[in-house]
Amino acid sequence: MNSNSQGSDLHLLQVSDCHLYADPAGSLLGLNTLDSFQQVLDSACKNQTPDMIIVTGDLVHDGSKKGYKTLAKTLAGTGCPSAAIPGNHDHILSMQNVLKKHHIPAGGKIDLGNWRLIMLNSQVPGKEHGHLSPAELELLDEALANAPPHVLIFLHHQPVPVGNQWLDKIGLDNASELFSRIKDNPAVKGIVWGHVHQPWEGQLGHIQLLATPSTCIQFAPGQDEFGLDSQPPGWRMLTLGKTGDLHSQVHHISRMPKGLIADSGGY
Ligand SMILES: [Fe+2]
Repeated sequence: MNSNSQGSDLHLLQVSDCHLYADPAGSLLGLNTLDSFQQVLDSACKNQTPDMIIVTGDLVHDGSKKGYKTLAKTLAGTGCPSAAIPGNHDHILSMQNVLKKHHIPAGGKIDLGNWRLIMLNSQVPGKEHGHLSPAELELLDEALANAPPHVLIFLHHQPVPVGNQWLDKIGLDNASELFSRIKDNPAVKGIVWGHVHQPWEGQLGHIQLLATPSTCIQFAPGQDEFGLDSQPPGWRMLTLGKTGDLHSQVHHISRMPKGLIADSGGY
C-alpha cells in the first residue's frame, strides 16, 4: 500500500461504469470501452498510486465472464488492490466467480486504517433501477455496528435525484431505508455512487453525497431525456484523512477518445 494504513491519509481511486465487453474491441455508442478504461487508469495512477481502486458497478456491459477477466487483468496492471460492486448491467454470478479468482472483493466491508468501506449491492436483477434488499440492509446494519470511527458507503444507484428525469426514474427506490440508518451516525462521512455517468455533489446533513463520471460515455447533466455530454471519460480520487476528513476531486482524461457517436438517442 502507498500509505501507512494507521498513520496517514488513504487515497482511493473510484472508477465507475466501465461497460467492458467480451470482445476487447467492443464499443458503447462508438467508444471503445476497454481503451478508455485503460486511459483512465493510466492517467489516474500517473502521479499517485492509490491505496485501493473501487469500481462502482456496470463493470461489464454484456455480462460476459471474458469481460470480467479483462477487467481483473486491467486492474491488476495498476499494481493496486481493488474491490467492486455490481451495477444494473452486471451478471452477478459471473462477476463474483471471476473476481474471486483474482482476489477482488465484490461487495461487503473492507477496513483500511481508521476507515471502513461498506460496499452495497443495489442491483435488481433484470431491472435498471436500484433497490437495497433486506439482506443488503442487514449487511449495512452489521457493518455499521462496531465499525472503525469513519465509514464510507459505496453503491451503484443514486440515492437522491441528480437532475435528469430519465435517470432519476431509475435511481435507488428505497433510499429512505439507507438514510434512516445513517443520517444520525457521525461515523458515516460519505455515500459514493456511479450509474449517472456524470459528476454530482450534494450533502445530507454531515454526509457528503458524491456521484462520479463513467470511464467511457458521459450523460449530459440537467436533461430530462437521454443525451450525451462532451466531457471525456473520468474518475474520482478520494482522500480519507485519519481524523475522518473526506476530500475528493473529479478528473477527466485530457481528450475524448475517437469514435463516440455524439447524437445517439439512447444506449
Ligand atoms: Fe452505466
